[in-house]
This record gives sequence, structure tokens and C-alpha cells, in this order.
Amino acid sequence: MDYSIKNICCIGAGYVGGPSMAVIADKCTNKNINVVDLNKERIDLWNSSNLSNLPIYEPGLKEIIKRRRGKNLFFSTEVKKNIAEADMIFISVNTPTKIKGIGAGEAIDLKWVEASSRQISRYAKGKTIVVEKSTLPVRTAETIKSILNSTITKNKNQSESQEFFILSNPEFLAEGTAINDLENPDRILIGGEDDDAIKALENIYSTWINQDKIIKTDLWSAELSKLIANAFLAQRISSINSISALCEVTGADIKEVANAIGKDTRIGEFFLNSGPGFGGSCFKKDILNLVYICKYYGLYETANYWQNVIEINNWQQKRISNVIINKLFGTVVGKKLSILGFSFKKNTNDTRESPAIKICKNLIEEGAKLNIYDPQVMPKIIERDLNLKESIEFDSSSELGEWKFASSIYESAIDSDALIFLTEWDEFKFINWKKISEKMRDPKWIFDTRSISISKEAQAYGFNIWVIGEGKNLP
Ligand code: UDX
Ligand code: ADP
Repeated sequence: MDYSIKNICCIGAGYVGGPSMAVIADKCTNKNINVVDLNKERIDLWNSSNLSNLPIYEPGLKEIIKRRRGKNLFFSTEVKKNIAEADMIFISVNTPTKIKGIGAGEAIDLKWVEASSRQISRYAKGKTIVVEKSTLPVRTAETIKSILNSTITKNKNQSESQEFFILSNPEFLAEGTAINDLENPDRILIGGEDDDAIKALENIYSTWINQDKIIKTDLWSAELSKLIANAFLAQRISSINSISALCEVTGADIKEVANAIGKDTRIGEFFLNSGPGFGGSCFKKDILNLVYICKYYGLYETANYWQNVIEINNWQQKRISNVIINKLFGTVVGKKLSILGFSFKKNTNDTRESPAIKICKNLIEEGAKLNIYDPQVMPKIIERDLNLKESIEFDSSSELGEWKFASSIYESAIDSDALIFLTEWDEFKFINWKKISEKMRDPKWIFDTRSISISKEAQAYGFNIWVIGEGKNLP
């Protein structure tokens, strides 16, 4: 097998495929990278001349697209042609939780992985390395392999030279820091059976990543490691969130506790910020999948253990909605509330599994009128997530909950009783408290679910302040 890879195709131009291929193109200017997607609208946005219209907001991404697009990085819907020309194909398609049938609500729906494997089997030519990039259940490579090899068996005569090599190369990037994570990863994991194929992928990464950061394993260990890395990270957040509630009732402060325990190098200081619960496309999906796999193998205690990480996450979101309602005299019917931040974390426009969705839904169900502001999330996405049309004007004669999009922090605060911080966007640290307080109704509240260090100045303008995990919230 020849190590040299000239043409790379990536199936799926999403949050993983787009940024990861952009960085490979930027680091390996001698490789041609074609990112293909069935979604024409998404591809048109990737090709948009106005770089502010890229379908994904990610700091540093625009600059790379500007440097490489049209040179060695191309976005198109031409799946067939680009698969046929590729020496290496990354599969980076959607892998959501199944919503019906066997394993509904837990197992990963592999229909997109299966469809892309079938496309590869139909169009690929010669020796082709197929790389799993999406997070997948352990042993998915087996499925991909049997689909690919079935065509070889079927067309035995015509495809003498056709051969597939499967690698698992899970992506560990976090949204909002994707470019930095791709340029300076903690590690690169490559699982596979064929040494030459592993070497070919390793050669690409070693262009900019130290050899000692590249871990090589068998296929199954690579697939499972990705699920487990996400499960461990999510478990840490549920652990700290469960303690945030304890701090609130005992007078302790979760930030002090996190700092004190994090100084123990065995625990470590990262990923200990309590908040409204984890969101994002991976954590919940991967844990549900882990639970499903454990149950499948009869490991019910293991399944229950991980299921509880999700239970705590759901409870934290419900708990926050209840705190808000209780502090606002037990009812939010007809009250205007300013929601600050809708994405699942800062520096991304992604709202998948964002805690803001459940919290807003709870408040709307209780009759609140929400003015939602987010610097990157578009109103049509909020409409989709809340499954509720945006109101043009609030109907004060109705007790039904509603929502409207606000184009600034200050607009969202008009006549509102509370500012509810749900995402830790940097601009929320620089609020003009005098200006905002004058727009609100008294008594006015701040609910800071992200500990974004609301300035002392806010207190001077008469705000009541509740911060997640702060025992000084005690009455
Ligand atoms: C995660 C993993 O970090 C990444 O390695 C994997 O490839 C994909 O899943 P991502 O979901 O993009 O990345 O973001 P991450 O930074 O992990 O945050 C996930 C959620 O946890 C966010 O809602 C975030 O706000 C929350 N979080 C994170 C906390 O509540 N507290 C923390 O201390 C850290
Ligand atoms: P992720 O966060 O894992 O990148 P996304 O949902 O953002 O997931 O992106 C996955 C992309 O894969 C979508 O844009 C979807 O249209 C694309 N896709 C799914 N199946 C195929 C396929 N068979 N061929 C081409 N593109 C596909």
C-alpha cells in the first residue's frame, strides 16, 4: 500500500467535518480536500463570499477558510465524483440518538453512516482508506466493513484492485475552541488493523502534531475510548452540578469548592464549572449509547451508574427553572424575562441539547414572556428548538407563555423582571448596569446560571442576585 495520500474527501460538512478538514487543508497544503454534503443550503453557506455567513460560527475558522478555500479546500454536493477521486475518505455525518424502533431513545441511529458507507462502496475506486470521524458505537467499523466488502464480493471481477482499509479516528474537538483544539490537540487517536493505512493517516497529522501525541490502538479501543472520554467529562459536570445545589443550602460556594478540590492534581482543575447542565451534540447522546451497550451486554449496574449522570443533568435544568419561578414570588405568568444566551456554550451558534431549550420551555409553560438574546443563534433556530412561533408583539391579555427575539442585551431587558444568564458569552461581562437597570421593572433580579462574575456594580443598581452554587443566596 502506497502511503501517499493526495485527495481527501470528507462526507459531512457539519460541526466536525467542516472545521477538521479546514485545519488539515491549512496544515497540509499539498493535499486536496473536498468536503461534500447532501445539504445544498449548507454547502452554499460554506461557499458564501461573505465569510460571516459560514454555517458554523467558530473563532478562527473564517481566517482559515479565507486562506484555503478554492485552493486546496473545496465544498460541494458532488458526492460521487469526490468519492471516486479520493485516496482517503472521512465519514463525518450525523449520528443522533434513535427516535423509534429497537433502542429508541438510547442507541445511535446509524442510518447516515450506513448510507455514506453505501455511497463509498458504490463510487470508490482502487485502494481507499475509510476513516470514521463521527463518534460511533463500539464495533460500528464492523458494519462499515461489511457494507464495503459486500460490493467487492458482488463485483469481484470488475474490482480486482478495489480494497478498503477502515480506521477509527475519533475527533475530540470541543465547539467554540475547535480550531485551537485541532491545531494543538491533547492527543490524536488512530485505531485500525492495517499498519500501512494507520501510517498514511499518521503522516497527515504528524505534519503539525508531535509523534508522541499520536496514539495507535485497535479499532474497537479507539471507538470505545471516544465514548468513554465524553462520558467521563459529562460525569464531572454532573458531579459538580450536584454539589452546586448542596452549596446553595449549606452556605458554601461552589467556586471555592471547585478551586480547592481542583488543586489536587489527581482531580485536576479543568471542567469543574457548575452551570445549567451540559448541552451539545455529544455528551447526552454518547452516554445514552453507553447505557444501551451496557444493557445489551447485561451490565445493568454499569448502565444505571451512567444513566444517573443524565438524570442529574435533567434535574439541574428543572431545578434552575424552579428557583427562578420561586424567587419571582412563585409565578411568572405574564412576566417579561430576559434570556441572555441560547447556545449550549459560548463561541458557538450550536444549540443542540442546549440547557436553554428546557429552561425556556419550562418558563413558557409557566406563562412567562421571554425576550431572548443570543449573539450568534438565529431566531429561526430558537423557533425550531422551542417548537413555538416567535410572537411579533406580546399579548398582555393572554396568560400563555410566549417568546420574542431581542437584537441586543438592552432590548431584551425592556420591562423585564429578571435577567437570566444561560450562556457565558464574553460580552455579558461588560454590561452597562445603569443603562440596563433603568429599562427593567422593580424588584429586579439577576439569575446567573454560569457564574459569569456579575460585577459588584450591579448590586449598587438594586438588583437581587442569585448565582449558581452560591450559598450566600440563602435568605
Ligand atoms: C465535547 C467534548 O469536550 C469534546 O472532546 C468532544 O469531541 C465533543 O463533546 P463540546 O460538547 O463541543 O465538546 O463542548 P464542551 O466544552 O465539552 O462542553 C459541553 C457542555 O458542558 C457545555 O454545555 C458546557 O457549557 C458544559 N460545561 C463544560 C460545564 O457546564 N462545565 C464545565 O466545566 C465544562
Ligand atoms: P457533526 O456535529 O457530527 O458534524 P452535523 O449534523 O453538524 O454533525 O453534520 C453532519 C452533516 O452530514 C450534515 O450536514 C448532513 O447533511 C451530512 N450528511 C449526512 N449524511 C450524508 C451523506 N450520506 N452524504 C453526504 N452528507 C451527509
